[in-house]
Amino acid sequence: MSHIQIPPGLMELLQGYTVEVLRQQPPDLVEFALDYFTRLREARDQAFVPSAAPPSELHEPAEPSPGPTADENANSDSEDDVDLEVPVPSRYNRRVSVCAEAYNPDEEEEDTDPREQLSQVLDAMFERIVQVDEHVIDQGDDGDNFYVIERGTYDILVTRDNQTRSVGQYDNRGSFGELALMYNTPRAATIVATSEGSLWGLDRVTFRRIIVKNNAKKRKMFESFIESVPLLKSLEVSERMKIVDVIGEKVYKDGERIITQGEKADSFYIIESGEVRILIKSKTKSSKDGGNQEVEIARCHKGQYFGELALVTNKPRAASAYAVGDVKCLVMDVQAFERLLGPCMDIMKRNISHYEEQLVKIFGSSMDLIDPGQ
Ligand code: CMP
Ligand code: CMP
Repeated sequence: MSHIQIPPGLMELLQGYTVEVLRQQPPDLVEFALDYFTRLREARDQAFVPSAAPPSELHEPAEPSPGPTADENANSDSEDDVDLEVPVPSRYNRRVSVCAEAYNPDEEEEDTDPREQLSQVLDAMFERIVQVDEHVIDQGDDGDNFYVIERGTYDILVTRDNQTRSVGQYDNRGSFGELALMYNTPRAATIVATSEGSLWGLDRVTFRRIIVKNNAKKRKMFESFIESVPLLKSLEVSERMKIVDVIGEKVYKDGERIITQGEKADSFYIIESGEVRILIKSKTKSSKDGGNQEVEIARCHKGQYFGELALVTNKPRAASAYAVGDVKCLVMDVQAFERLLGPCMDIMKRNISHYEEQLVKIFGSSMDLIDPGQ
């Protein structure tokens, strides 16, 4: 079969796509592929436009992040890992290293044969069956594998100041174990199976070779947009980079519902392009129709966010969100939201406090969006 020429870059292209699919589990593979490759082409067309901006001011978050120590340690001496690309730029040469890393054609050429790479990934992936109460990962350990959930439920436990608390769950979907591998830090949480389950594991070296490189491309794609989002302005560059590492992208058609009032929430959204209408079914006595009619209460535009309220209050979605025209959103899951957006919590809470006022103006009475004390 040696006469069949595999074009250079093909395997890597497909691997990158496959890895993103595994990580983000998009509902529509074709739609996701279309979008993924379009973005890749856009990024390629914009490649080699050097960013001359100086590093932004170092900034201390307004409020300590409730996230793990891994995030705080993420900039620590990862340079000791000389054989692998290091995704998190150090505090003082941040942008330079991000840009250099994202599209360095010399590095691409240094790769092993793409066919070899693919077989390495396939060889490296292994199935792990777990039993109830089994610890898949223990906080503080060195990172060995990254896991994609095939099935099962898992508790995320974080120990701080000798106190262990559950900070979330995975329910038959998602992935974990990337932090220690990406940032060369100890495991930031303990993951315990709460049912019998099955996982796909990828070893550290293969993970870094493929995913870290893939993340570098993703950074290139989303870096400038993420920098322009007002909510994220107070974050350090390295913190914003971590957001890029975890976000996914979803596309919605005109009129499509993005969020449904009353449903359980698991994601947070930032509008990348287009416009989103927020509609609410009022339950106030003043609504003539008994609250069945949806009333528009807000419009969100590029760079704005929505879907944070239910995640912050731990309540069902307070309103529905619909696409106006074609809309592209960056989507972050609840675990990443809690881990990475702690420093932005003050701003979000301030904005949430305006929601009530907004509703009082529209409906003439409060809707009890937020429990007292939250
Ligand atoms: P890692 O630190 O390698 O191992 C534990 C994993 O738990 C971590 O990567 C994340 O993938 C996952 N995780 C999910 N939520 C959290 C959280 N709040 N804090 C830390 N880790 C989390
Ligand atoms: P969430 O409740 O998660 O889902 C619906 C979203 O609509 C909500 O988060 C907010 O992000 C957004 N929203 C915008 N304006 C309002 C408002 N006045 N009241 C409630 N939600 C609003």
